[in-house]
Amino acid sequence: MTLPRRPAKPEIRVFPTPSDVARGAGELFVEVARDAVEQRGHFLVALAGGSTPRDLYAWLAEHAADSVRWPRLRVFFGDERCVPPDHPDSNFRMAHENLLRRVNVCPNCVHRIPTKLPPVEAADDYETVLRDELQPSDGRFDLVLLGLGDDGHTASLFPHSPALWENTRWCVYNRVQHKIPDRVTLTFPILNAARQVLFLVVGSNKAAAIERVLSGPTDLAATPAQGLEPSDGRVTWFLDSAAAALLDPTT
Ligand code: 6PG
Repeated sequence: MTLPRRPAKPEIRVFPTPSDVARGAGELFVEVARDAVEQRGHFLVALAGGSTPRDLYAWLAEHAADSVRWPRLRVFFGDERCVPPDHPDSNFRMAHENLLRRVNVCPNCVHRIPTKLPPVEAADDYETVLRDELQPSDGRFDLVLLGLGDDGHTASLFPHSPALWENTRWCVYNRVQHKIPDRVTLTFPILNAARQVLFLVVGSNKAAAIERVLSGPTDLAATPAQGLEPSDGRVTWFLDSAAAALLDPTT
């Protein structure tokens, strides 16, 4: 009888400052991209939204323009706010301004969530894109970048929201009561198929959430980021010292 594979314990790295986190994450991104292209011919990556990844994207544009084979990237997004792609709140706009327009990634290989469609249609459309683009690579991202909200959410998988319980689709519209605008998000089935998940979390306002996610009791409904347990992949947390302040350094 084969026992279900137990997910590996997450790796936690603590850096002094947010810019150290960005540099460390940039160096890891370059390494994972190189290995993926060497082994499979391309690099399938899901970018994170919010504000934390901005420094990483800028670091990549400034320091990795020549060390990543950008035309081999297939770029996706872990979630999106249901706003136009040029809206200040758009995750696509943040990634485009800080990274994608500054490197020679091929425009047709950047797959943004089509938020000009109504949320349900946008999620259906993106589901098709994901399956068309990922199936040839056994349905797995090489790297998923994620952030963490101070309520323990990641991507747009918010506490007690319907998307947490989706176990078939890879992308859904997640109606979140207190969140405006609406969200479209990737779900645990595709996120947990990733070869590597990298969380980037900085700031003292995230310290309590980090402690709950990494050291607290398992409670997926209240702390969705605990649901990231790839069956055959690695989870790495890059934290700055402020975000890691409540973690027990001896564990
Ligand atoms: C989003 C992100 C979300 C984000 C966290 C952290 O669309 O907002 O997907 O999950 O990563 O809310 O956001 P900050 O990096 O801005 O703290």
